[in-house]
Amino acid sequence: VKKIPVCEPYLIGREAEYVNACLKDNWISSRGPYIDQFEARFAEYCGCRFGITTTSGTTALHLTLAALSIGPGDEVIVPTFTMASTVFAIVYLGATPVLVDSDPETWTIDVSRIEDKITKRTRAIMPVHIYGHACDMDPVLDTAERHNLIVIEDAAEAHGAEYKGRRLGGLGHVSCFSFYANKIVTTGEGGMVVTSDEVVAERARALRDLGFSREKRFLHESVGFNYRMTNLQAAIGLAQLENIERFVGMRRRNAALYNSHLAGLPGLVLPPEKPWAKNVYWMYGILLTDAAPLTRDELRDRLSGYGIETRTFFLGMHQQPALRERGLFLNEEFPVANGLARQGLYLPSGTGLTEFEVGYVCHTIRTIFDDHGQERPGRRFRSRRP
Ligand SMILES: Cc1ncc(COP(=O)(O)O)c(C=O)c1O
Repeated sequence: VKKIPVCEPYLIGREAEYVNACLKDNWISSRGPYIDQFEARFAEYCGCRFGITTTSGTTALHLTLAALSIGPGDEVIVPTFTMASTVFAIVYLGATPVLVDSDPETWTIDVSRIEDKITKRTRAIMPVHIYGHACDMDPVLDTAERHNLIVIEDAAEAHGAEYKGRRLGGLGHVSCFSFYANKIVTTGEGGMVVTSDEVVAERARALRDLGFSREKRFLHESVGFNYRMTNLQAAIGLAQLENIERFVGMRRRNAALYNSHLAGLPGLVLPPEKPWAKNVYWMYGILLTDAAPLTRDELRDRLSGYGIETRTFFLGMHQQPALRERGLFLNEEFPVANGLARQGLYLPSGTGLTEFEVGYVCHTIRTIFDDHGQERPGRRFRSRRP
């Protein structure tokens, strides 16, 4: 059986043509027409004035916080259920991450718990649009306004997704994207900061380039970084961006197929799509609750035997030794994130996944559920006992 990977890049447009143009014209480093075009067009796509490309989503987050002068003594509110990059970016600058549990329905930050975490030191809130589904942004923006806080969207996983008809990345003060190979738009490795704030954009641009002074070469006004993307990467990004609507459409079509084939299986929770959200299903995530006839890990093992690759959900940041050894989050509880980490997995989700492949994955899951239902009819009740 051919293996079905959890995600693969989908390079079906003018990627090779644009990369070859870079090679032919000798523009292979961090200046060149594709950088300018990719930044301008992606920012515009998000409804923002400025785009600043970076080497990754992680460095986009770091650059953003640095451009906002977040540092020691500052607190930044983030969901515990996220990629480590969101929280590490805060730690790089000596600021303190303050974690919030997840909303059990959308898996994004529980907006009702943000207010309790605000202190005199809080500078920013960083909602993360998990697996392509928007965080409920209105309460976040409202809380931020009342407390004079900055909102930074981590939209690494949510290219093209929407909240109440507005595209993500354009709702907060600044937003960060990743273009890693498994993202909906990829540059191999890469990222972007988008914002309409000219001052933040200028600062991010300068810090991306070692903080060189504009007036005098080799004069540094701040301790910056080299987080520059290459024209070669931007060439790929631009070609990808030309097809973004198609990619989003294909992902949504595959999610709808998964939803219809998997509906009704006991103990299986399908991914959310709130009426106010357009989910782009960066990853098609499911949960296996105690009512399912087998555990999440048993299902993963069985699927792997059929050549179907899956991944487990994030492990909350409160569980990370790298952060706990700094004395962070020691007496805090995050039951929803713990449940997601224990029960969640994502199924093959790449843009190029065919209807046949989705059908095969679903048929296999149904067969496995049937097998386990028959082999272990009592499990459902056993697992509920204390
Ligand atoms: C929510 C989130 N933030 C940040 C990142 C970091 O992006 P990158 O891998 O490009 O550094 C990722 C990437 O996987 C992510 O999923």
